[in-house]
Amino acid sequence: MVPLSLSSDTQSKNSLKIAIIGQGAIGGLLASQCHNLGYNYQLLLRNKTLVKPNFSLQIEDIRQQVTQIQPKTCQIDQAKNFDLLILPIKAYQVLAALKSMQKNIQPHQVIVLLHNGMGTIEQVKQLLPDNPCVAATTSYGAFKPAPAYVKQTGLGETHLGWINSPEPEQVEEIEKILTNLLPPSSWHQDITIALWNKLTINAVINPLTAIHNIKNGELNERKYTGEIEKTCSEICSIMQQLNYSVQLKDLLKRVNQVIEKTANNYSSMHQDIYHGRKTEIEYINGYVVQKGKELGVGVKANQELFNQIKALEKKQ
Ligand code: PAF
Repeated sequence: MVPLSLSSDTQSKNSLKIAIIGQGAIGGLLASQCHNLGYNYQLLLRNKTLVKPNFSLQIEDIRQQVTQIQPKTCQIDQAKNFDLLILPIKAYQVLAALKSMQKNIQPHQVIVLLHNGMGTIEQVKQLLPDNPCVAATTSYGAFKPAPAYVKQTGLGETHLGWINSPEPEQVEEIEKILTNLLPPSSWHQDITIALWNKLTINAVINPLTAIHNIKNGELNERKYTGEIEKTCSEICSIMQQLNYSVQLKDLLKRVNQVIEKTANNYSSMHQDIYHGRKTEIEYINGYVVQKGKELGVGVKANQELFNQIKALEKKQ
């Protein structure tokens, strides 16, 4: 692996200013992609001590090529100068992050949600009803073996869609930038279908792998079939109540494909429990339970997974 050191002041090809919140694994990949494409970007950080001119990150891509970048940084509650705000952070961090910036957010600034789980769209609509907003879901794989090192583990794909869209010229410009940043990507008229599909995958794989301390691929064993089917069937009934035309067999097929494709990975929730961190359970099975209760659909299997993860979080 050869570290390639690249200057932070790359000539910006694009006039739109991008702000990426946090320094998580997906945020790191986005920063390196902005760097490679010569975009004008900065990282918004909560930790004051990290906001410094020589802040640097090393990004190891899928070919094990390491690039060192030195992004501009800014304290999150001081950030003003941006057009596009990307939030590649955990679902439970979204509301607090936006609240900490709220006094500086202008109505033209576009918000991009990029995380596992559902429930944040409702929060953003309430907090910033006038801002254009994109919701996205990605299957990019990455993790951070050290605080300033991001390792890409899989080439994923990204699905995006407008929740609240701006003027047509801005739509075109933003779509072009996000398509370049997260390839291959597809834009959807109604992104909520893709979000529910991904929610189903996460509602099965994440809690089960965390509870049983296993890799994703081990969910192929027969002993998990019943629980997988029950969890998916509850989500399928909720989706049908919400008027999505979906069949249980298709949801199960999707879940099984991801189990196969990511057989060797530990899910994000497995890693969170393993390392004693908070999980996204409230926004995954917790969201399913909440919707089930609202719609009068039984959610016993999802409630049980939720309770088991909560019990594991308490033990930490
Ligand atoms: O959260 C995760 O780990 C991932 O979204 C997925 C697709 C379940 C693969 O591990």
